[in-house]
Amino acid sequence: SAAPSYEHILTSIPKPGVGLITLNRPKALNALSSPLFKELNAALDNYDNDKSIGAIIITGSEKAFAAGADIKEMAPLSFSAAYNDNFIAPWSHLSNAIRTPVIAAVSGYALGGGCELALMCDILYCTSKASFGQPEVKLGTIPGAGGSQRLTRAIGKSRAMELILTGRNFSGKEAGEWGVAARVVEGGKDELLEEALKTAETIAGYSRVAVLAAKEVVNKSQELSLREGVEYERSLFHGLFGSKDQKIGMTAFAEKKKPEWSHE
Ligand code: CAA
Repeated sequence: SAAPSYEHILTSIPKPGVGLITLNRPKALNALSSPLFKELNAALDNYDNDKSIGAIIITGSEKAFAAGADIKEMAPLSFSAAYNDNFIAPWSHLSNAIRTPVIAAVSGYALGGGCELALMCDILYCTSKASFGQPEVKLGTIPGAGGSQRLTRAIGKSRAMELILTGRNFSGKEAGEWGVAARVVEGGKDELLEEALKTAETIAGYSRVAVLAAKEVVNKSQELSLREGVEYERSLFHGLFGSKDQKIGMTAFAEKKKPEWSHE
């Protein structure tokens, strides 16, 4: 079937098993309008449903990952329209429904909703000069796509409170020091994407069953108590003895061979 075509994003498969989504609304610094988000969710679903895709990367341009939700779209919105239509709810699709690992590769601005989108991804890579922030207070509002919760869990209350109350930006370098970013790349978008692609290819090279389970258990740590989380992990770990790939992986190790995953 033909690759779907989008207006605000680009999609490609740059390496076997890796789905790349590039936010592409350059005139608005990739502001995340509702039409853009609809396309992003559709593209995520397409890759997530495709058994040949083992990892997804979301990136933007050199200048902007995304400069936030679309302020011009939101400016005239009423409470009842936002509430009745559940305006910001589609943004939770990535966290709620996408099981394939998603890497954010952030160059340039990741502000407001752009920062929140990056924080929703499973792994965050950025350039040292990337510029993150939750500047909603400057617009007379607050983060609306999880920023107050995810940023606080990522960097602690005092730092998150300072950033959200002042609206000041923080650099990619700081994101690395604080553990928001798993890796900070010196250089520009090309070097950043190269690193993200290497990691995505590594993940896509493993058993899909094991990778989905690994993502699921790490995410449980954000929701459950330690004891419940450990018990959840144990159940899934025991369950994986029922997968073909556990037998394939451990037999290959014992025979000093490279495993040929069945993804079952
Ligand atoms: N929404 C809509 N349009 C935006 C936008 C946004 N979030 N960010 C930038 N743009 C538009 C600008 O309006 C401008 O359009 P025009 O050419 O038609 O005027 C174009 O993109 C280029 O932007 P600038 O001229 O402002 O570029 P700059 O280099 O001078 O500044 C910037 C870059 C500092 C990122 C600045 O654009 C900016 O401050 N953007 C807004 C950042 C922001 O407040 N984001 C939070 C949004 S609220 C939110 O996200 C809510 C939530 O939690 C879900």
